[in-house]
Amino acid sequence: MSLLFLLPSFVFFSLFALADAQIATRDVPPPQTLVIPLSMHTSQVYSVKVNMSSNASPQSFSFALSTSTAITTVAGADCDSCGGVPSYNPSASSSVQQLPQAQNVSTLNGTASGAVVREYCGLLQSNGSAWVYPNQTVTVANQSASFFSPGVSGMIGVGLAPFVDSPAANWLAQNPTQPTFSFGMALNSPSNFSTDGGVLHWLQPDPSFYQGDIAWKPMLAANASIPSNRSSWFVEMDAWSVSGGSSSFNISQSGTELLTLLDPFYSTIVFPQSSARAIYADIPGASKHATSAFAHSWKLPCDSKFRLTVTFGTFSTSLDQTSLVVKQADGVCVGALQEWIDASATEYLLGSPFIAVLYLIFSYSQQGNGSVGVAARIPASNKLSPGALAGVILGTVAVVALLIIAGVLLYFTFLRRSAKAPHKRKLSKTDVTPFPSDFTESTSSRRSLRPNNYNGQQQGEPWSPDWQTTLLSESTPSPSPNTNTFPGGTTYGTQSSHAYYRTEVDSSPSLIHLDSPPPYAIPPGASPVPLLPLRKNRQPS
Ligand SMILES: *[C@@H]1O[C@H](CO)[C@@H](O)[C@H](O)[C@H]1NC(C)=O
Ligand SMILES: *[C@@H]1O[C@H](CO)[C@@H](O)[C@H](O)[C@H]1NC(C)=O
Ligand SMILES: *[C@@H]1O[C@H](CO)[C@@H](O)[C@H](O)[C@H]1NC(C)=O
Ligand SMILES: *[C@@H]1O[C@H](CO)[C@@H](O)[C@H](O)[C@H]1NC(C)=O
Ligand SMILES: *[C@@H]1O[C@H](CO)[C@@H](O)[C@H](O)[C@H]1NC(C)=O
Ligand SMILES: *[C@@H]1O[C@H](CO)[C@@H](O)[C@H](O)[C@H]1NC(C)=O
Ligand SMILES: *[C@@H]1O[C@H](CO)[C@@H](O)[C@H](O)[C@H]1NC(C)=O
Ligand SMILES: *[C@@H]1O[C@H](CO)[C@@H](O)[C@H](O)[C@H]1NC(C)=O
Ligand SMILES: *[C@@H]1O[C@H](CO)[C@@H](O)[C@H](O)[C@H]1NC(C)=O
Ligand SMILES: *[C@@H]1O[C@H](CO)[C@@H](O)[C@H](O)[C@H]1NC(C)=O
Ligand SMILES: *[C@@H]1O[C@H](CO)[C@@H](O)[C@H](O)[C@H]1NC(C)=O
Repeated sequence: MSLLFLLPSFVFFSLFALADAQIATRDVPPPQTLVIPLSMHTSQVYSVKVNMSSNASPQSFSFALSTSTAITTVAGADCDSCGGVPSYNPSASSSVQQLPQAQNVSTLNGTASGAVVREYCGLLQSNGSAWVYPNQTVTVANQSASFFSPGVSGMIGVGLAPFVDSPAANWLAQNPTQPTFSFGMALNSPSNFSTDGGVLHWLQPDPSFYQGDIAWKPMLAANASIPSNRSSWFVEMDAWSVSGGSSSFNISQSGTELLTLLDPFYSTIVFPQSSARAIYADIPGASKHATSAFAHSWKLPCDSKFRLTVTFGTFSTSLDQTSLVVKQADGVCVGALQEWIDASATEYLLGSPFIAVLYLIFSYSQQGNGSVGVAARIPASNKLSPGALAGVILGTVAVVALLIIAGVLLYFTFLRRSAKAPHKRKLSKTDVTPFPSDFTESTSSRRSLRPNNYNGQQQGEPWSPDWQTTLLSESTPSPSPNTNTFPGGTTYGTQSSHAYYRTEVDSSPSLIHLDSPPPYAIPPGASPVPLLPLRKNRQPS
């Protein structure tokens, strides 16, 4: 009898808990989704259209989308070094407010600087209307270097910091009852030479574009005093692995702080040198190719087959050679995965080739804390049918379940009026933001870019997959300095918390070309699991 009573009330409470956690409870209705179209330029820059000024004929610009910063920058009319892009003339606007300060803005490519203004802006929606955001802080560049690309007059920063300059902060201040400012990002692949770059779902992500759970990661503020900082924020990636076609190799890393930036502004994926070199050492015919402002690339045979899998919490996604091997106009095939020029950089950059395979959500709280949600994208081709179908089925199941629960509850309520109080629960008025409960602690304790020891069982990551834990328990941390030298590579650093793994499944020697015999060779024919940690100080067995 008591069991019969407990079961439905448990289900009932769980449903409320679920509602509390996933659909942030609001005093006010959530905002409507606005569809912001993204254009793609030949330089693989994803851009939005922004109108500046409240004049009858505003000045209209294309702005590159970046999540690294929260600063918006536009080329000023008096800028001689801004590449001749269409420029903004503050004196032609009646709504401009000049601010006394100047601002420097940098990307991995270059810099721009100039005076700061506040301006009445409108972000163009797909139906031709503008989402108006007045009093937006804008840096009006009067000088720049490698910052602007042809036809693109600036950059709209929708990242974490400096938060006061963000369009999100502006909107949250005007909508104090809204718990968060969120937007979803569904990019089209950069390798698809189309001018349609995809869409942003502004103010409210669109669930018909993704399926399964969203894995949320708190945005960790970058420590500006670390010279290799790449961004104003990072999230922690839980693991990555690269495996070769027909399982010829498998390199993976997990169990350490893998600080990762997700920014569609960059059309590459950049790994630390040791990781990238370990990967390309296993790809037959790969060789160093070119150097950009911040990364080295490899060229490789156009028929190379390999797969990169990245894990954030419960979410894993894979890219294969269709995204990882890019055929240039000259017929040379280049790897989308590159390495930092800076040998000391330990961060990971996942740019547009990666972002285009998933659905990304950025969410900022009234306090300016951010979190990134990653979810599986529903492919455009079958987006409507299975998604809608799943929704209908789930909806039906939920309604039936609720009816049964309500019936059972009603029955017990009438049967045992005295026992009514304990399960009568009102939805809390407290706004619930989609941050893990330990977010504060996690943010403050993880500001440093230096990887801390990470034991995989961190609170706030209850979604850590089992295999990761298993791996970690096998890698007994070594007290001696760990230098993880890879073929043709350099040392990874001095931290002892890094753990690389490599399994060679059916490894035929002809498939793997090593420059020198690795000191850590794993006997061929080893079964895929368990994976052995790669350590220089490990005796070859
Ligand atoms: C944006 O500015 C252009 C150029 O002034 C104008 O033609 C267009 O109507 C504006 N769009 C909106 C939505 O205000
Ligand atoms: C911008 O950079 C220049 C040169 O690096 C420096 O002199 C100037 O102080 C910087 N300005 C600001 C506002 O940070
Ligand atoms: C750009 O603007 C800044 C601040 O307004 C000023 O100090 C600097 O001299 C200007 N530079 C050029 C090249 O005009
Ligand atoms: C465009 O969409 C927005 C949001 O749905 C709506 O408020 C606006 O009225 C629409 N504009 C037009 C011209 O249909
Ligand atoms: C924008 O700034 C002006 C001048 O400071 C102020 O009068 C106006 O109320 C502000 N608007 C918003 C929406 O904050
Ligand atoms: C490129 O775009 C076309 C049409 O929009 C689409 O069918 C195709 O799947 C896209 N390819 C990639 C790699 O995204
Ligand atoms: C990186 O750190 C430097 C100081 O070393 C700071 O000036 C810069 O703004 C930081 N970059 C970002 C993107 O936060
Ligand atoms: C490669 O290793 C990772 C981590 O051990 C594992 O999750 C993945 O399934 C492996 N991939 C293949 C193709 O064996
Ligand atoms: C940044 O640099 C890379 C490589 O140097 C280049 O491909 C890309 O177009 C640049 N992006 C911008 C916006 O200048
Ligand atoms: C947001 O960050 C601030 C510090 O910047 C911290 O005090 C606050 O507790 C954080 N809020 C949440 C919800 O994590
Ligand atoms: C940034 O790093 C420096 C040097 O590692 C450290 O002293 C400082 O406390 C860090 N700052 C924050 C905010 O974490």
